[in-house]
Amino acid sequence: MDLTQHSFIQIFFIVLWIMMPAYLSNTFAVITGGKYPIDQGKLHNDGNRILGDGKTWSGLIGGTIGGTMIGYLQINHGEIIIEALANTNNYDFWGEKSLLIIFLLAFGALLGDMTASFFKRRSKLNRGDKSPILDMFDFIGMALFLTLIFDYDWLKSWILDGYVPLFTLLIATPVLHRGVNIIGYKIGIKNEPW
Ligand code: CTP
Ligand code: MG
Repeated sequence: MDLTQHSFIQIFFIVLWIMMPAYLSNTFAVITGGKYPIDQGKLHNDGNRILGDGKTWSGLIGGTIGGTMIGYLQINHGEIIIEALANTNNYDFWGEKSLLIIFLLAFGALLGDMTASFFKRRSKLNRGDKSPILDMFDFIGMALFLTLIFDYDWLKSWILDGYVPLFTLLIATPVLHRGVNIIGYKIGIKNEPW
């Protein structure tokens, strides 16, 4: 995908579109979450919870399914948006392993979120405590890392060869992440606006 012709604003929306399964998996996790803590209430040897009550199987599974469903809708009904946004088609945009990609983005985001919680507990932060940098980049970092491992060609096609600079991703992500969370907070499904 050659994005050299695109403006910054266009690239911003392209990033939003690509990362939608990752951004929204967390929102679904908030909705379905809260049951069956993954660490089963266990403590790490530093005396704090391994992950805490904010990381549950119901959230992980519901979020992965929800985020993947969003991606599925994007792939099957989003052709018109892809054409308008990026002057390309679904096939070039999502690659030949499109279903794998959306799953990796959704699951990876939650895996990253879980990894961050592990480190937050190690630095004595309680469930829900703010950890700005981690909260904003954990999910995108792991989502992209999984696509790097399982479908490097796809990641390369839009980030490296496609000139969606990582820089844009790094700017767009906090803005979008915060936006989604403030909405979640306002409509009452999230306890904190971050
Ligand atoms: N959630 C869940 N399981 C997950 C992820 C999220 O059940 N794997 C739910 C929890 O109810 C959680 C809420 O979504 O409280 C918000 O998610 P998040 O902000 O990631 O968790 P926090 O409660 O802030 O916990 P932490 O400090 O560990 O991030
Ligand atoms: Mg949190």
